Amino acid sequence: MTFNENVEKEAWQRLQDATVNYNGKPVGTIAAADPNPETINYNQVFIRDFVISAMVFLMKGQSDIVRHFLQQTVYLQSTEKQMDCFKPGRGLMPASFRVETMKDKEKLVADFGQNAIARVAPVDSGFWWLYILRAYTRATGDDALAKSEKFQKCIRLILDLYLTASFEMFPTLLVPDGSFMIDRRMGVYGHPLDVQSLFFTALRSAKELLVPREKKDIYVWAVNERLGHLLYHIRTYYWMNREILDQLNGYHVEEYGENAINKFNIYPATVPEWLVNWLPEAGGFFIGNLGPGRMDYRFFSQGNLMSLVNDLADKEQCRGLMDLIGKHSDDLIGRMPLKICYPALQGQDWKTLTGSDPKNTPWSYHNGGHWPFLLWNLAAAAIKTDRIHLAENAVSLAAQRLVRDQWPEYYDGLDGSAIGKKARRYQTWTAAGYLAAIELLRQPEHLKILSFDKKPDVQSCSSRKSAKQFFHET
Ligand code: GLC
Repeated sequence: MTFNENVEKEAWQRLQDATVNYNGKPVGTIAAADPNPETINYNQVFIRDFVISAMVFLMKGQSDIVRHFLQQTVYLQSTEKQMDCFKPGRGLMPASFRVETMKDKEKLVADFGQNAIARVAPVDSGFWWLYILRAYTRATGDDALAKSEKFQKCIRLILDLYLTASFEMFPTLLVPDGSFMIDRRMGVYGHPLDVQSLFFTALRSAKELLVPREKKDIYVWAVNERLGHLLYHIRTYYWMNREILDQLNGYHVEEYGENAINKFNIYPATVPEWLVNWLPEAGGFFIGNLGPGRMDYRFFSQGNLMSLVNDLADKEQCRGLMDLIGKHSDDLIGRMPLKICYPALQGQDWKTLTGSDPKNTPWSYHNGGHWPFLLWNLAAAAIKTDRIHLAENAVSLAAQRLVRDQWPEYYDGLDGSAIGKKARRYQTWTAAGYLAAIELLRQPEHLKILSFDKKPDVQSCSSRKSAKQFFHET
């Protein structure tokens, strides 16, 4: 397939124009170059937004900016043990940073959420940071950076923060609402899939990056253990298809003890009607959230696609997921790939779960809006499962509108036909997502930068065993 040269040229220009320099060296890309003065913090480098820029730079052999980014952000990590709840916990990476000039000296200023709307701290930044470090190491072959003492310490501090036992005993990570890409109240607290698939990806990255300090390094052990538990848990309990739905409808509730089948005490009456009508005969997906008495049946694109690309999904689940996306391309791809989640929260649900958020009205922004940056995830998943046409069609759809619409942050409406009502223009990850998708389609071997060669080694037979014991399965 040939790609529209003008669109590609402009996307590349946008990415370069978004570059931020620090002491004369490029260290990242701003979130958006919208000329509107109300840009709030979109002129900062967001770690999660930079991931896609980093992938594009790495695919194009321009690794300097990625190395500088890593070298600088490693110093932004919070490293003090905190007893003060207003300070970022040890190991946390910031959501974003900016360059400030004071008395002719440049300084990087990090935001851990203390200035963010609603003061949300980023659970995902540390994960994305590990993923970028692993992608950089993989693409360049330069493992000296990751092996250096400073970087090894940073990796271990991130693991300390995320692997510490806390107030529950699930392998999934417990998070507050809006602590990741969806950074507003959307009922995505607890154990949202987007965070869990990222957690899995980050642990796989850490596994490759950690240099064992002794023969039985506890960090290496903990990473392997958790990978096994997480894989088992998500594959077993988050997967949804017709057969599982039928079983669920027949569940007994209030089961106690070892032989419980309905382990999370899910009430069959909570199965929403849309799901019954929407689930295809063939195909399935990972649901959005699972916790005590709570299943969130919404489809979240990023979590599902990352689960596929990074092997959290097994082979059949990968196939099932792409079948479902193909079958529901009107809903999920529509006129601008890709919807962030489906369906939108409406009516009373919208009021209660979003807090009547006027930005997250049904089929807008995080609440069922279409985000072109997700093209990179779709392209990677399509290559991995050999459904190239799906990604090629999506890229052509995007190419028809992105330049004319000035690279909006997101689109609105059931099929993504309207530019997002509050969308920034010249959003960097819109351009980067488009570029990453075409680079991947043009040279599928780039997939190695963002995915893993081997299937996860569930050496974790022991992990599987203990996870099974905890949930009392044989
Ligand atoms: C919005 C998005 C967030 C993104 C930020 C900068 O807040 O929800 O995910 O990182 O904009 O683009």
